[in-house]
Amino acid sequence: MHTDVLVYGLLLWTLVASRHGRAYDDMGFVRTNMTHFLVNRRPFSLNGFNAYWLMYVASFPEEGRSMVSSTFQEASTHGLTLARTWAFRDGGYRPLQRSPGVYDEDMFQGLDYVISEANKYGIYLVLSLANNFESFGGRTQYIQWARDEGRNLSSDDDFYRDEVVKRFYKNHVTAILTRVNTITGVAYKDEAAIFAWELLNEPRCETDLSGRTLQAWIEEMAAHVKSIDSNHLLEVGLEGFYGETIPEKKKMNLGYELGTDFISNNLVQGIDFATIHAYPDTWMPGSTEQTQMAFLQSWIQSHVEDADAVLRKPLLISEFGKSSRLSNCRGDEEAALFTTVYDAIYASARGGGPCRGGIFWHLLSGAQEMEGLRDGYEVVFSESPSLGQIISNQSHRISNLNGGSETKKQLRPALQSGN
Ligand SMILES: *[C@@H]1O[C@H](CO)[C@@H](O)[C@H](O)[C@H]1NC(C)=O
Ligand SMILES: *[C@@H]1O[C@H](CO)[C@@H](O)[C@H](O)[C@H]1NC(C)=O
Ligand SMILES: *[C@@H]1O[C@H](CO)[C@@H](O)[C@H](O)[C@H]1NC(C)=O
Repeated sequence: MHTDVLVYGLLLWTLVASRHGRAYDDMGFVRTNMTHFLVNRRPFSLNGFNAYWLMYVASFPEEGRSMVSSTFQEASTHGLTLARTWAFRDGGYRPLQRSPGVYDEDMFQGLDYVISEANKYGIYLVLSLANNFESFGGRTQYIQWARDEGRNLSSDDDFYRDEVVKRFYKNHVTAILTRVNTITGVAYKDEAAIFAWELLNEPRCETDLSGRTLQAWIEEMAAHVKSIDSNHLLEVGLEGFYGETIPEKKKMNLGYELGTDFISNNLVQGIDFATIHAYPDTWMPGSTEQTQMAFLQSWIQSHVEDADAVLRKPLLISEFGKSSRLSNCRGDEEAALFTTVYDAIYASARGGGPCRGGIFWHLLSGAQEMEGLRDGYEVVFSESPSLGQIISNQSHRISNLNGGSETKKQLRPALQSGN
């Protein structure tokens, strides 16, 4: 009798828990130890996807939410364990932050849903907190808000300097980190499915190529994030271009000078790991496929060495991809790019090196409603089975490195014995 009640109770609890996205017991908080990520005290590497649109789509309760769920489902089927997405829509059409400090509850509940689904499917999230660029508001919107309050600002780079803008940004960080999820009841800052916060998508400050402006901003904002949430990892959102700390490395930059410094920016206290992006096709227009692939390999290698020898922090390749709109025979070349990135990650991680995962740009659901989000870089699993196989293979060997830890997908022992 007691046993029956207990078993029934466990079963009921598990059902409720799984409804609330708590079915996977193993999503421990991610930590770092030198150049490794750790989950449950074991080294951990990942395979991931970008899907910047998740919150927006999840803000449409019925069809939207089912699209988000089926995307997590497909990602999970391909062994993917990490998604990077936007925790911002500042001003404009269907905003999250309508005006400074004023939030749209429907949109926030969309983000709540994304987080609860991520938890349910055992997929970690990197949540980016604002955009360098104008899409979905970005620095431009923050500048406009400050102008509306009478600030005399001349450039979007005042985002990094103006006290009012910095206050707006910090308030947004606070609003996100302290949000209590309406589905799970867990505050975002306590949510284990969140892998890391990202300060800004692809920060650039071209009006100060010394790098000092951006460096000071990263220091100030990293301290702000950590003052609210010291549990989660934090990264900057960098593409990886070099600055003055190691001037000879600037020859890797392809001529780009963006006011960033991969070395000093990532050495900031509170920045837990480094990121790079890799878009050889858009970064090297007009060059041959061969030249682009050679660049890709040395770009990754160079940052792997820095993460290992200088930063002593892990590295994620947090965006890479190839556009079908810039190349004629897309399939083969896209496969070659993914394979090159994946091989580099696997070689580093297997050898105890710092490069612990890749996050391709970007996964789309094949649904009709998503047509408008196609940008040439989209990966739709139902349309690209061979790329899907390459992605699954990478997930599989990364999982083996983690100790074959399909553990995340194991149900709680309680449920197994209850059965
Ligand atoms: C952290 O790394 C050091 C050096 O590699 C190692 O000795 C130690 O066991 C690691 N700690 C954990 C918890 O993995
Ligand atoms: C705004 O700033 C610019 C440049 O800093 C300055 O030249 C201008 O006089 C300022 N305008 C006002 C209204 O303060
Ligand atoms: C995936 O891995 C399997 C088994 O190791 C291998 O036979 C297959 O060729 C791989 N496919 C791709 C596309 O890499």
